This record gives sequence, structure tokens and C-alpha cells, in this order.
Amino acid sequence: MTTPLICPSILASDFSKLGEEVRAITEAGADWVHIDVMDGHFVPNITIGPDVVKALRPHSALPFDCHLMISPVDSFLEAFRNAGADYISLHPEAGPHLHRSLKYIRQLGAKPGVVLNPATPVEILDWVMDDIDLVLVMSVNPGFGGQSFIDSQLRKIEVIRKKLDAVGHHAILQVDGGVNAQNAHKCVEAGATAMVAGTAVFKGGPDAYAANIKQLKGL
Ligand code: DX5
Ligand code: ZN
Repeated sequence: MTTPLICPSILASDFSKLGEEVRAITEAGADWVHIDVMDGHFVPNITIGPDVVKALRPHSALPFDCHLMISPVDSFLEAFRNAGADYISLHPEAGPHLHRSLKYIRQLGAKPGVVLNPATPVEILDWVMDDIDLVLVMSVNPGFGGQSFIDSQLRKIEVIRKKLDAVGHHAILQVDGGVNAQNAHKCVEAGATAMVAGTAVFKGGPDAYAANIKQLKGL
């Protein structure tokens, strides 16, 4: 079984010292930094904007993985790219022209991702396959950290794994929400290659980050 990429969601970090937290997870062996962007409109919570992403950029050389839960989304893509986002993922429901938005992200020089909510059908991927570098399966309804993993999403990961393999697509298959040491291996078995984790990485404070990440990797 391949070792998954671990992408700590800084939503679960101490917001009063975000820079330190990003440095701490970088030193603790994280692969990416997952940044949850929420607008209080597309999802019922407000978090981080492009200025914060920009301020965090000097604190880590790891890829910045910006998960945009905002609507409208198109008018903010350039700002997130300029702030230092490497991956930019968006929800099909967040804008009128998914294909156009994905093309635009690539044009900006970032890697585009599509995020599927628990009830979003996988078929939408069929029509944007050439335009994505990442598929993110939400294993909770977006908006908050610390929710419980929705088991039905394991089946969705399996379906997407088959879809990607059938056409030899090398997109990262990422899962986000309620991921912990107990269910991480199930996600990998289903075909996920990257895991977002907030609570499971940041629990116990900085001294625990390295061990928490190792555990999620199944090492
Ligand atoms: C939910 C976010 C997730 C979440 C993960 O909308 O996209 O990234 O913060 O946090 P945990 O791992 O605590 O569920
Ligand atoms: Zn997320």
C-alpha cells in the first residue's frame, strides 16, 4: 500500500500563532499545508482570506493547498494564486462554469482541484478530467472541523479510483473531514493518495504533531 500524503488543515491550529503552527507541521513531516477558505455564504463559517495565505507563505516551502469554500469563487482565484497557493480546489456548486474556473486556475499557474461534497455525484468528473490535478472527496459536510467521518464516502473514493485508473489519470485523490488514525487506512485501501486532517494532526499540541502525522501515514 502506498504511503499517503498528509495535508494538515490549519483550521484546527492555534489561530493566534498561525505562522508558528505552519512551521511546526512543516518540521513535523507534513507533506502539504491545507488551507480551508470559508465565506459564511457557501458554508456557514468564515475563516481565512488571501492576505493570510500571503502572510503564511514565507513560513513553509511545502505546497499550499487552498480549499475554497466560497461563492462566487472566480473573482478570488487570482488573489489566492498571487498569495502563494499551489493547489486551488473548488466546489462545482460554487460557480456557474466549473470548466472555465478550472482552466483559469491552470492558466494562473496553479494546480486545479474539484471538491465533491458528500451528496455530489461523481459523474461531474467525467467532463473535466483533462482539467484537474486533484479530486477532493469530502467525508463531512464542509464548514467545520471536528466532525465525524461519513462512511459512505469510502465507496465514492473507490468509484473515483476506478475512474482515474481506467484512463490512466494521475490526479491526487484526497479525502477531507473526520480523518483519523482509525479510518485513514480504509481511505488508502479505497484508493485515496492524500489525506487532509485537522483535529487528528493538531491534537496534543506541537510536541505531538510528528507522532500524529506518522500515525496517519500508517508508519
Ligand atoms: C471542512 C474542512 C476540513 C476540516 C478538517 O470544511 O474542509 O479541512 O477542517 O478537519 P477535521 O480533520 O478536524 O475534520
Ligand atoms: Zn478542507
